[in-house]
Amino acid sequence: MLVRGCPHLPLRAYICPVLHATELRKAYDRVLALDGLSLHIAKGESYALLGPNGAGKSTAIHTLSGLLMPDSGEVRIDGQVLRRKAAAADNRAIKMKLGVVPQEIALYEDLSARQNLHFWGSLYGLGGQQLRNRSAHLLERTGLADRADEPIEHFSGGMKRRVNIATAVLHEPQLLFLDEPTVGIDPQSRHHIHELIRELHAEGMSILYTTHYMEEAEKLCQRIGILDRGQLVAEGSLAELRRHVDQRGSIRVETRGLDGQALQALLSAFGERLSHDGNTLRLVPETVHQDIAELVRHCGDLGVELERLDIQEADLEAVFLELTGRALRD
Ligand SMILES: Nc1ncnc2c1ncn2[C@@H]1O[C@H](COP(=O)(O)OP(=O)(O)O)[C@@H](O)[C@H]1O
Ligand SMILES: [Mg+2]
Repeated sequence: MLVRGCPHLPLRAYICPVLHATELRKAYDRVLALDGLSLHIAKGESYALLGPNGAGKSTAIHTLSGLLMPDSGEVRIDGQVLRRKAAAADNRAIKMKLGVVPQEIALYEDLSARQNLHFWGSLYGLGGQQLRNRSAHLLERTGLADRADEPIEHFSGGMKRRVNIATAVLHEPQLLFLDEPTVGIDPQSRHHIHELIRELHAEGMSILYTTHYMEEAEKLCQRIGILDRGQLVAEGSLAELRRHVDQRGSIRVETRGLDGQALQALLSAFGERLSHDGNTLRLVPETVHQDIAELVRHCGDLGVELERLDIQEADLEAVFLELTGRALRD
């Protein structure tokens, strides 16, 4: 795990990185959108860049995929450096290794899903039977085969997003960037997208997925980087990130017979670490075992019956709060 200032990478991300970005800086007028972002993704790895709105996720995707040049810093894709436009002759070879699903859907509304795939595929130099087969295969995989020949203007946002993902993987890139692909779409499409990403990853594609939903980062990706104000403030597997704030998990107790007097006594015993919601108490522990024993003893003394006690693990929300002092969600 990395916490600001002490980089630690899994060995694989050193030995065979598909993406190796160092010290990226990008400012728009007075906003510093990327503030020294370094990111390393191993071949075959799935990585979530998790951060609230405005953290710099889209700017990161744009600079890492060569759509936008950083003010400083370097991006290497599969060992090759992405260069400024002036010297961009060999950027095309690099871009063939990348697939990008941007935050804003980029498709032709009056064309069908299949026609969109054929058009975008031709931009990658695909054609003929190969392009037709690959398009049909992806329409099948995204669950759109039966609607493939309708103009997409009648599609839901989620269906368009699935077409957009299909266009990004037509040329079988090594590394797929997805920028918040499930924001504002229906549950069925979200399910399709999650399944597709899992499958592509299982087939060996490296994935960089940005999101502000911690559940997606947890479910879909092997490693998670937490981005805040253009900086990576922590990085690691879910377990590693959780360990960082293990102390901040909470003890939750459902009680019976919790009256005002007992509650006051408990609040004065535990101070601000104890909160309550109706008959449920929540204690942020200092030492879990000792605090459970203390809480049970106090409740016993006060005649408060315990119905249920559990320990809730810290989630990424707690990690983010701990590291930045702010909530992940808006
Ligand atoms: N084209 C732009 N011009 C000016 N400011 C921008 C532009 N794009 C992004 N920003 C600012 O840069 C910061 C990072 O934005 P962005 O990369 O879009 O974050 P995210 O994708 O995490 O929401 C924000 O403060 C945003 O307002
Ligand atoms: Mg964005």
